[in-house]
Amino acid sequence: MHNDVARVLLNEQEIRDTVNRLGAEIRRDYEGKNPILISVLKGAFVFMADLARAMDIDCQIDFLMLSSYGTGSESSGQVQIMKDLSMSIEGRHVLAVEDILDSGRTLQYIMEILSARKPASVKLCTLLDKPERRTVQGIAADYVGQVIPDEFVVGYGLDYAEKYRYLPYIGVLKREVYQ
Ligand code: PRP
Repeated sequence: MHNDVARVLLNEQEIRDTVNRLGAEIRRDYEGKNPILISVLKGAFVFMADLARAMDIDCQIDFLMLSSYGTGSESSGQVQIMKDLSMSIEGRHVLAVEDILDSGRTLQYIMEILSARKPASVKLCTLLDKPERRTVQGIAADYVGQVIPDEFVVGYGLDYAEKYRYLPYIGVLKREVYQ
């Protein structure tokens, strides 16, 4: 385990089981619909790669990069488009793929910009959900991997100051690292 990690929240097997369950649920709902999976960079890049393979149905992928947190551990409350989609989503079934749903601001913004482009449907899949941290009311994911407590987590794509994204597990970061 990395020295900066206090404990493992989800190990590799637990992540695999979670992703396989989500993949099966999404396959059941989207088979034959050729959905576009939209990964919200950067944190979701690892999850998206595993989820697409677990789904195992015809789909397309695209990337959207937003920024809200900078390099700190608390949200600045500002969300901006850093990189836009490369394809039209008009008339298509869209599944936004997130690593973590926290305050809900990012998801609210994603839903606004995607819905404005007239897709046939938009749903959200998040690997992790921290409902205790929600500040935007009425925001929820359609597919949730694991509900987790309000702790600072890294690994499997999630970072602190751009570090730890490569860790194969999801761990709780030691307080002294970010305080
Ligand atoms: C994280 C995460 C979500 C967002 C969730 O992204 O990937 O996009 O925060 O938080 P919210 O519900 O409070 O909006 P971050 O801005 O840290 O960028 P990253 O994906 O590049 O790590």
